[in-house]
Amino acid sequence: MAFLGIDVGTSGTKTLAIDAKGKILASDVQEYPCYAPKPLWSEQDPDDWWNAAVKSVRNVVRKAKLKPADVKAVGLSGQMHGSVFLDKNDKVIRRAILWNDQRTVAECAEIEDAVGGRQKLIQLVANPALTGFTAPKILWLRNNEAKNYEKLRKVLLPKDEIRRRLTGEYATEVSDASGMLLLDVVRRTWSTELLDALKLDINLFGSVYESEDVTGKLTPKAAELLGLTTGCVVVGGAGDCAAGAIGNGIVNEGILSTSIGTSGVMFVYSDEVKIDPLGRVHTFCHAVRGKWHLMGVNLSSGGSLQWFRNALCRELAAEAKKKKKDVYDLLTAEAEKTPPGSEGLYFLPYLSGERTPHADPFARGCFIGLTLVHQRGHLVRSVMEGVTYSLRDSLEIFEGLGIPVKQIRASGGGSRSPFWRQIQADMFGQRVVTINSEEGPALGAALLAAVGAGAFKNIQEACKAVIKVVKETKPNIKAKNVYDAGMPVYQDLYRSLKDDFKRM
Ligand code: XUL
Repeated sequence: MAFLGIDVGTSGTKTLAIDAKGKILASDVQEYPCYAPKPLWSEQDPDDWWNAAVKSVRNVVRKAKLKPADVKAVGLSGQMHGSVFLDKNDKVIRRAILWNDQRTVAECAEIEDAVGGRQKLIQLVANPALTGFTAPKILWLRNNEAKNYEKLRKVLLPKDEIRRRLTGEYATEVSDASGMLLLDVVRRTWSTELLDALKLDINLFGSVYESEDVTGKLTPKAAELLGLTTGCVVVGGAGDCAAGAIGNGIVNEGILSTSIGTSGVMFVYSDEVKIDPLGRVHTFCHAVRGKWHLMGVNLSSGGSLQWFRNALCRELAAEAKKKKKDVYDLLTAEAEKTPPGSEGLYFLPYLSGERTPHADPFARGCFIGLTLVHQRGHLVRSVMEGVTYSLRDSLEIFEGLGIPVKQIRASGGGSRSPFWRQIQADMFGQRVVTINSEEGPALGAALLAAVGAGAFKNIQEACKAVIKVVKETKPNIKAKNVYDAGMPVYQDLYRSLKDDFKRM
């Protein structure tokens, strides 16, 4: 018996197979391009996702030596907020607009005006209008591509378009639907009040399920293409943040995960629905039945260090390649020679604007505090520290809302570095642990599939059986004191520069 998790990511689609005990059998990744037809736009072709999903499923079935009937259920995960626009024949009308696209500043204002302000919107859907979310993208289509809007019959999220091609059903689930800005997050159903205010027909959207519920089964055509059977069911799954959190075992109160990938995500479980009245962090439905989570998202986390490497370290990267070394290890070795606080140098990681806590598409990245003493190692350390200060912004907001944080689990590419994990422990003033798996959202989706097919009683049981803490990093009190003193400076820098960013 086996279960698949398919994660439709931004750089590629990853499929993972597990057995009935949650043991990983095989995985496969297929990549595709991302298009930026204008600055700050970001688009992808849903056919690329589909081709990658088909290929990665076939590869995983082959690598794990599974027979077609072995695969009992599929769970889906994917990049959140993206908009797949379909016409009456289910043809894709234009490329999908993605989570990191910033074109909808005017539409965000239009949404708040339509309901009578930001506070009312937060009351309806638990969140303010953010440029990356789905609802403003639909309004953008209406305002800017009238011919395309006329043809529009359905709007689906990336993973839900894969679901449609697998099962023929228009369906979504609560965690990903929360990021459309159209879901009544408290009641876990579409907000008819908001849909009416925006003049959007509820039939544009799929049915909403809980994450572990079965939403359909493979059509004969899909089963043939994937090399599976029509007995294979497809469960709701989850947006990549919630699915990644399941893959990290964030299914009980008191546990928070930090993830440093291209974006940075601080994700905390909550038994009750708690909403930041200022809308600085998101409140979404969790992929755990009837539960919620709060989340802070930083748009350039690992992406900031990647930018630094690409823009400023080409020679070092070439040298590293010759020596068969990882350029990030060389940069980290330089950073390790510098003291916590980078001798007064700060980095603001707002290279793509910022979401949490500022919700400001005009924010920009900067190094502040340069002196003649600073070398490349200081710059590297201050990039890592700046990214971690921005994660701490979310932690402080969660704590201010009375959410207990007893254990912090670090994940994502950035957290593979012991040095960056130490910065996190020092910055958060708490132990930071890592777990036995780095598979993230694809594992979370596969576990949801296993629960949906009855292999585990619920998702908590599944996580308990599969996920174990393996390492811990303790905070160093001296470094913690440096970061405690640096935090208000870091926070004030944005406040001081905010208006200048707009003028720039
Ligand atoms: C979450 C978000 C991103 C994407 C990336 O709100 O926008 O993490 O889901 O895949």
